[in-house]
Amino acid sequence: MENINREILRIAETFGKTPVFGSGKTKNAKILLLGEAPGAKEVETGRPFAGSAGKNLDEFLSILGLRREDIYITNTVKIRPCRVNEKTGRAVNRPPTKAEISAFSEVLRKEISAVSPEIIVTLGNTALQAVSGDDRKIGDCHGQVFRNGEFLIFPLYHPAAVIYRRSLKDEYVKDLEKLKDIVSQKI
Ligand code: URA
Repeated sequence: MENINREILRIAETFGKTPVFGSGKTKNAKILLLGEAPGAKEVETGRPFAGSAGKNLDEFLSILGLRREDIYITNTVKIRPCRVNEKTGRAVNRPPTKAEISAFSEVLRKEISAVSPEIIVTLGNTALQAVSGDDRKIGDCHGQVFRNGEFLIFPLYHPAAVIYRRSLKDEYVKDLEKLKDIVSQKI
């Protein structure tokens, strides 16, 4: 993982930014949880899913009966995509650009191979498309496991989308129950 993190650091430097590395179980983790990109809190603490997204992660883990250290957590893009709000002068999050996604795609592939998880759980469209290699949409395939090469992939809605659209919550929890069955069969 050291070489991979060195490579991540080098890519982040080309954007003039500090990266947030993956964290958790780096070898043979049951689950590799793949988010979109770090936010301010993640950059501040150096950990993925540290801010309010961390609370969702706790819910995710408690439904699955797992601890944070049992899984590996990382992001598709390792730097915080942000822009300056003209009115407030503050940095605000924005979706990652194609250039940012593509800059980290090869090192993400290496990271996934190094961790060699039993299943990759993607959160939202960015992560889903990064590991499927196509433009499938989360609304069409959430909760349906599929295989890409040697890896099983389980797409989930991004927890942030569930917060903004409460109507997704029931489906999200149903998907998690399904994931729980899959993971417990594999243990
Ligand atoms: N925090 C992360 O690290 N990734 C996300 O996708 C969202 C919040």
